[in-house]
Amino acid sequence: MKLELENFYKILAPRPAVLISTLDARGRTNAAPFSFVMPVSRTPPLIALALAPQRHTLANIRETREFVVNIASEEILEELWICGKSFPKGVSEIKESGLTERKPKIVKAPGIEQCIGWFECALEFEKETGDHVIVVGRVLNAEVKDEFFREGEFDLLKAKPLMHLGGENFAIPERIARPQK
Ligand SMILES: Cc1cc2nc3c(=O)[nH]c(=O)nc-3n(C[C@H](O)[C@H](O)[C@H](O)COP(=O)(O)O)c2cc1C
Repeated sequence: MKLELENFYKILAPRPAVLISTLDARGRTNAAPFSFVMPVSRTPPLIALALAPQRHTLANIRETREFVVNIASEEILEELWICGKSFPKGVSEIKESGLTERKPKIVKAPGIEQCIGWFECALEFEKETGDHVIVVGRVLNAEVKDEFFREGEFDLLKAKPLMHLGGENFAIPERIARPQK
């Protein structure tokens, strides 16, 4: 069947769901879920996000030029969903959802304790693209909970990252497939 062109991305799924935490110029915390997110360079380490222009997250990144990417797991699905609701600018979705701030190592914005891993990022550049703005960040510090990273590999089945299918639907990875060669 033919897809409506504006829905093309729906079969480019599931995509990892992350919470982006930021501070505004007044030092107030914000956190929101995003899934238009991808690594775009290893050296230097760069990550790209696509944000709708009205997002407080985008305003905060413009104000403070930094953000934290928090990798979400099944354990925090309900809290992530609350963070996706519309709150007035300046209200901390981390507090509203019952999540906990995690002290950052390099940037000023806090991470979120209950996540699988964290990338502290500095804004590299932004580019308006269609109905979103692509934000490219340089990863200054990357950390993962010890229990989810063994012998240099991500323990996907243990970490249970939330994968966004669209709307209220998420997938949780349950099996790893390998080519027979
Ligand atoms: C799982 C999930 C993924 C989302 N992905 C994106 C995205 O990639 N880009 C975007 O602009 N909004 C996305 N949204 C919508 C924002 O999270 C939502 O509008 C939120 O209220 C924005 O908060 P903010 O204004 O504090 O930044 C997503 C929502 C959910 C629940």
